[in-house]
Amino acid sequence: MREWFSGECAARGLDLTEDRMGNQWAWWGDPDSSAPAGIVTGSHLDSVPDGGAFDGPLGVVSALLAIDRLKSDGFAPLRPIGVVNFVDEEGARFGVSCAGSRMITGVLSPDRARALQDADGITMAEAMRAAGWRPERLGPDPEALSRVGSFIELHIEQGRGLIDSGRAVGVGNAIWPHGRWRIDIPGEANHAGTTRLSDRRDAVIGCARAVLAARAAAETHGGLATIGKINIQPGGVNAIASSATAWLDARAADEPALRAIVAHIEKDVANSGAVVTEESWTPQTGFDSVLISRMASLIDGAPVMGTGAGHDAGILANAGVPAAMIFVRNPTGVSHSPSEWAEPEDCLAGVAALAAVLADLAGVQR
Ligand code: GLV
Ligand code: MN
Ligand code: MN
Repeated sequence: MREWFSGECAARGLDLTEDRMGNQWAWWGDPDSSAPAGIVTGSHLDSVPDGGAFDGPLGVVSALLAIDRLKSDGFAPLRPIGVVNFVDEEGARFGVSCAGSRMITGVLSPDRARALQDADGITMAEAMRAAGWRPERLGPDPEALSRVGSFIELHIEQGRGLIDSGRAVGVGNAIWPHGRWRIDIPGEANHAGTTRLSDRRDAVIGCARAVLAARAAAETHGGLATIGKINIQPGGVNAIASSATAWLDARAADEPALRAIVAHIEKDVANSGAVVTEESWTPQTGFDSVLISRMASLIDGAPVMGTGAGHDAGILANAGVPAAMIFVRNPTGVSHSPSEWAEPEDCLAGVAALAAVLADLAGVQR
């Protein structure tokens, strides 16, 4: 993916740099010139297990096509335009979402990142070294961030808002607060054929209680809670589980509702001796109101909408970078699945909208 990205940037004469986390930034114009900071667009190329082709890549591909379009229109930017490929947005392997943007904004510490482990116990530091990257380089990168005057992330919609409004493209104005929690559930290994039911301490029973508690908490407090990943030890068909780990993803429209969901689950699973640990937290995010109204006026009829999905644009916005998003219609609303889809004409409407926004922001000296 990274090689593909650098090849596409080279083919367009964009200058590629990498920050201290390995996020790739490609520039049209000199980002260190004395002009005001650049206008950056882009997204991520990583995915979830068995994910779709659009969540992430649509934003990167659309960014490159928007630049092609501006170039073929003879547009000469007054401010540098950048395309970013953020690393590890989904956190599928090491558990922390938006690791690339969290690192450079200082939300994820280098020590914590290096020590994160995947399902096989391989640390992020080891995985980085194996991929030819030096984990000692990790750290906040104010220099990379200072080049970003505004960030516009185009993304496939991950719900049904645009279908309902009959529009191909919308403007994103907010992200629900969300987070991830690890639930460690104790048990006692024993024989499946000889241990009386009354003598068992079965970690999988605790795990099942956690799954049901998540559902009940989300229903009670009006949010969303999902357990989509479970690790059962030792994982034998004829052995009672000695421990289990379940990962909770929870989201809600406001932070009190989200905290209430997690507190409800914590209380329920405490009966099984389980311990809940927060692995990541993203506060309620509002995007830049000036950008939002400009974008809504540039993209004819675009509805302004929030989302429950997390994005690097949210991490940047919370670090003080003016940011907003463009959403492209998804005809089923399905995402994080191979059936994620966007019609080609809607994707092209997204490119046209992004090009118009970039031309407006990079063509005016503010
Ligand atoms: C990213 O896709 C997330 O919201 O988990
Ligand atoms: Mn995603
Ligand atoms: Mn995404």
